[in-house]
Amino acid sequence: MKSTAHIKGHPIHPILVGFPIAFFIGTLLFDILALASDRYDFAFAATCMQIAGITTALLAAIPGFIDFLFTVPPKSSGKKRAAKHGILNVLNLLLFVVAWLLKRNPAVPAFVILLLEITGVVLLGFAGWMGGTLVYRNQIGIFTRYAGAGKWKEERFAGDQQKIQVATSNELKTDQMKLVHVHHKRIVIGKTAEGYVAFDDSCTHKGGSLAGGALICGTVQCPWHGSQFDVNTGQRKAGPAQQGIKVYTLTEENGKVYLQL
Ligand code: FES
Repeated sequence: MKSTAHIKGHPIHPILVGFPIAFFIGTLLFDILALASDRYDFAFAATCMQIAGITTALLAAIPGFIDFLFTVPPKSSGKKRAAKHGILNVLNLLLFVVAWLLKRNPAVPAFVILLLEITGVVLLGFAGWMGGTLVYRNQIGIFTRYAGAGKWKEERFAGDQQKIQVATSNELKTDQMKLVHVHHKRIVIGKTAEGYVAFDDSCTHKGGSLAGGALICGTVQCPWHGSQFDVNTGQRKAGPAQQGIKVYTLTEENGKVYLQL
């Protein structure tokens, strides 16, 4: 599912995370070298990298938090994973901030600083592992294409009307989908050979976004573990999901497609 914080479809968070990872690992390595060789220039380099790491970590956190709020599907296993990823990164950041502050106090032994930094780098490793899972398995930030090279479309509708225009008759081609946010729900509008359909975005297995999956011949397949659902009836066609999905009524009038809630 397409990242919310992006530049021309390229997610910003993964672009930025490489900087704090490099700076924090560099901080630890140069602090070890400084301790081993008793050289001031190594200690100075470590402090510079520590400041750069803290600054770039804060910068990288902004698009990451935006994607956590608006891209990762709510009430899903991916949301829990993303929350843990964020918490580990915040803990790592705090450890490096504390280590940086303690460095100013000559009474604090060097091994205490190193212990904090080593713990931070270990946490960074776990957080990075989870970040990889979020991208490569949960497909957070993937700019999905549909049949006919259709691009990801997402729209938000305010208000509490019961009948909302969610598309035009020619907007989607067969087997293309778009995600709409209506009444705090995520609903997929798709087009089959027979016409438009609407159904819940959330897969009943672990909450994967069906809008990020594939729609073929009236069946939508979840991108996370491959569960399949009939988009006309909502019935489950293949697991691991055990339950079907909710479908909604659409009407077409004068070239406009309306969602009935
Ligand atoms: S979340 Fe597992 S199949 Fe959809």
